[in-house]
Amino acid sequence: MQKEIRTFEELETEAKSFMETLAPSPRGATLVTLSGELGAGKTAFTKALAHVLGVEEIVTSPTFVLEKIYMLSGKSFKRLIHIDAYRLENGADLAPLGFGELMKNSSNLILLEWPEKVSGALPTPAVKISLVANSDDSRVITYG
Ligand SMILES: Nc1ncnc2c1ncn2[C@@H]1O[C@H](COP(=O)(O)OP(=O)(O)O)[C@@H](O)[C@H]1O
Ligand SMILES: [Mg+2]
Repeated sequence: MQKEIRTFEELETEAKSFMETLAPSPRGATLVTLSGELGAGKTAFTKALAHVLGVEEIVTSPTFVLEKIYMLSGKSFKRLIHIDAYRLENGADLAPLGFGELMKNSSNLILLEWPEKVSGALPTPAVKISLVANSDDSRVITYG
């Protein structure tokens, strides 16, 4: 499925309807990967999703800290985990982030930017999102 996003308001609406398609799985964490070039809008999508989930902290890119964990107070997921794999060398670098343990917990919703960097160590994601920025600053979002 593909959608075109023109404004941050539309991005928020899109994040909301995407969230309505997700539910915790008894088998473990829900992993959503975000692919797309630098500036495509991967972090912006995560920020919109965090806002929809009621996160009040300012959500910034985890490019340098690699991983951020936000506690959620809603009824479905208990934690939103935002990982940026851009600076990782390969899948083994996920282990120090506690990724294996995080994946075991059904209460975790994990959004991971740059899955290509760690593809060897990633389980099959629940949803693969791809983002493309158009020259007019609109974005195309594809769910796979
Ligand atoms: N849907 C959007 N509409 C307009 N601007 C956007 C949108 N998504 C992202 N941007 C802007 O593009 C820039 C890069 O976005 P970002 O989410 O950091 O990219 P990425 O994480 O993919 O590298 C930011 O300044 C952000 O505000
Ligand atoms: Mg980013």
